[in-house]
Amino acid sequence: MSIRFVLAVAGLPLFLGSFTGCRAELGECDEAAARQIVFRITPAGEEPEEETFAGGIEDGTPLYAGQALMQVHCGDSGFCHSPAARGSGRAGAPLGLDFDLALACRVGVDPCCDEAQCEAYAMQSCMGDPDPDCVQTTYDTEMARVGAGIERLRRNQRQTYDHRYDVLRTVEDGSMPPGAAGEGTRAFAEYYGEFEAGTFSGRIPTLDTSAGREVLRNWLACGSPVLEFSIPQDADDGPGDDCGAGPIGRCGVAAPGLEPPDPTWDSIYDRVLRPLCVSCHQPDNPFWGYNDAGNGQELDYLDADDALTAMVGVEASSRSAATDVDCAESGTLIVAGDAEASIFYRKMTAEPGCGESMPLREGGRGLPENVLEPIREWINAGAMR
Ligand code: HEC
Repeated sequence: MSIRFVLAVAGLPLFLGSFTGCRAELGECDEAAARQIVFRITPAGEEPEEETFAGGIEDGTPLYAGQALMQVHCGDSGFCHSPAARGSGRAGAPLGLDFDLALACRVGVDPCCDEAQCEAYAMQSCMGDPDPDCVQTTYDTEMARVGAGIERLRRNQRQTYDHRYDVLRTVEDGSMPPGAAGEGTRAFAEYYGEFEAGTFSGRIPTLDTSAGREVLRNWLACGSPVLEFSIPQDADDGPGDDCGAGPIGRCGVAAPGLEPPDPTWDSIYDRVLRPLCVSCHQPDNPFWGYNDAGNGQELDYLDADDALTAMVGVEASSRSAATDVDCAESGTLIVAGDAEASIFYRKMTAEPGCGESMPLREGGRGLPENVLEPIREWINAGAMR
């Protein structure tokens, strides 16, 4: 049945439209639940043992719970809906219909998630190499690999979003994941665990349970957000400080190549807003399910000029579901001459003062200081066009 279904899908490019009559209802989005983090709790290739759960994290890769369910049940970087799966390994899943949502990279595990580490890595691995270009070549190759990983993740996040009704419907009617192989994927899900205040609180519920299907439904209803990379925890971070919960890993959007802007609006717009903010802050934002009026995304960044006009001297207006303090009634977006008083600036730091740190997907960490500094400088100099 399942294989027939996926083949039928392959032959019907417009299948989304053709199923609208019986499309699954996604229902309400609980944002906090959609961003619940689970952690991979055993080293790759080993059976999960009770002691491993009790004793702590050995791998620690974080994913949102819904992202983890898609990952383990649909392809896990190797079968069916994974770009790595070929031929019979796809079990009929159409080529290109990939839901691989594994992290793009893990800092501390993959040497090139950020530029500084990558440079150190390239220097180290080229030590004693007579080729004068070795460092640059190694650096470029490794950064390109991370770039490709991010592209893969974003493409598959988009596919998941575009196919959200069918994903939910086929999981709910039991046709996905298919048959005996589908049952086998349960074992992978058991590698992921939830933590509360740093303490193991249980395995992630699998898709053959109603609890697991509810996790998936809610995550899809919220726009299928994904974590993109992890950073090993700082020694002074308590469990639960970072990306919602858990004993390891901050997480966020990988942004290799995020170059510090010059202290001019054009440069700030090109290097920061365009890559990191416009995807949400535009009238027709297809992602993330934040389109209700009053949620902050009416702040339209599609056009550089309009974006600036919409902020200088303009009161903030957004309401945040995730925090107690709304930006509405908290002040002005850009106060020319005073970066610290500007909500636009504060929102990009780890202490936004109202709502959450931007870009939202960054996991509440704010942008790095070398990016913030020229933005501060530009606002303090008068926030000129
Ligand atoms: C994943 C979606 C998303 C991304 C990406 C994103 N934002 Fe937001 N933004 C929101 C949401 C949702 C709110 C309202 C909730 C809040 O304030 O926490 C918001 C609110 C804001 C506000 C307050 C607007 C007001 O009138 O109150 C500012 C300023 C802002 N974002 C700037 C940025 C900047 C700058 C970036 C990029 C560095 C960015 N955002 C990236 C979703 C996003």
